[in-house]
Amino acid sequence: MTRTISAGPTAVAEAASSLTAGNLVAIPTETVYGLAADATNGAAVAAIFEAKGRPHFNPLISHVDSLAMARRIVVFDEVATLLAERYWPGPLTLVLPARPEAAVHPLVSGGLSTLAVRAPRGIAAEIITALGRPVAAPSANPSGRVSPTTAAHVVHGLSGRIDLVVDGGPCSVGLESTIVAPEVGRIALLRAGAITAEEIAALTGLPVVRPDENEAIRAPGQMKSHYAPAGAVRLEARSVRPGDHLIKFGGAVLEGEEGAAAVIDLSPAGDLREAAANLFAALSAFDRSDIARIAVSPIPQSGLGEAINDRLRRAAAPRQDASTSAVGSARA
Ligand code: TXA
Ligand code: MG
Repeated sequence: MTRTISAGPTAVAEAASSLTAGNLVAIPTETVYGLAADATNGAAVAAIFEAKGRPHFNPLISHVDSLAMARRIVVFDEVATLLAERYWPGPLTLVLPARPEAAVHPLVSGGLSTLAVRAPRGIAAEIITALGRPVAAPSANPSGRVSPTTAAHVVHGLSGRIDLVVDGGPCSVGLESTIVAPEVGRIALLRAGAITAEEIAALTGLPVVRPDENEAIRAPGQMKSHYAPAGAVRLEARSVRPGDHLIKFGGAVLEGEEGAAAVIDLSPAGDLREAAANLFAALSAFDRSDIARIAVSPIPQSGLGEAINDRLRRAAAPRQDASTSAVGSARA
């Protein structure tokens, strides 16, 4: 059952306690309604992808209540600080280097070493303050549909799939945030939005460039061999060869498993949400130069299985070229 509650102090308290419990809450921001989860809770973040029916684990924006909260998870240089001080709270998202110790779950960054951060205005900020932690939130629509700018629009798309919708009326901007990544001597515009490239260039005195599609790092999750561990990955494995490192699911016992060098079960109970939350940690645990072969047992294709299998196919894809290794080294 999805409840709707009008914005106000009760809504802030209820939204925060629902998020604390690991549930999904749709919250109004000045841009569009966001589908929020506690960014530190892997199963809750996995549930976002499940509720949206997203077939890929593309990275999500971490929403914060302040520059201070943002500084706990990412590193600001001078330009990033200038932009945040000028436009936050507001419709600007900054892609910045993640702090290695940041408590944000790897599913939020898609396993990248950067995080997208934004401080929204209004009740969204109050809810984040009440939670005390960053909130991961894509737009609150089923995958492939338009972003919602009213609570009714959210209910129409996601009713029954989320716990709570906070109704704050129509969004004032009505368009997703501008996304930029400050680089050396320039600023990359990753998504156009309400704050224009011209304004950002005037404020910072730096050129604002639209990176071309060959700059692999700009399209996280799009590169085939993204998230590839050092060793060869064999999918749909029904048996284990001696010395294989095995990633499996649902307590399955494979032929020859006793010969595996190490075994990680993504979810012994067969829960795809738990498996999604454990996926990047498993790939990274087996991403070592001394691990030559990783076998992965079949994962169901239903629900979140589609996104899990998409990511595993990228991990198993043949290595491409130099730009691929740039992506590989960007892994958290
Ligand atoms: O206005 C908005 O930004 C809304 C509200 C809810 O805040 N959110 C939103 O989220 O539009 P979403 O998930 O629909 O879009 C997030 C975008 C994606 O295009 C994603 O690829 C990009 O941010 N992104 C996230 N993390 C990134 C990273 N580390 N590097 C590059 N791009 C990133
Ligand atoms: Mg969206």
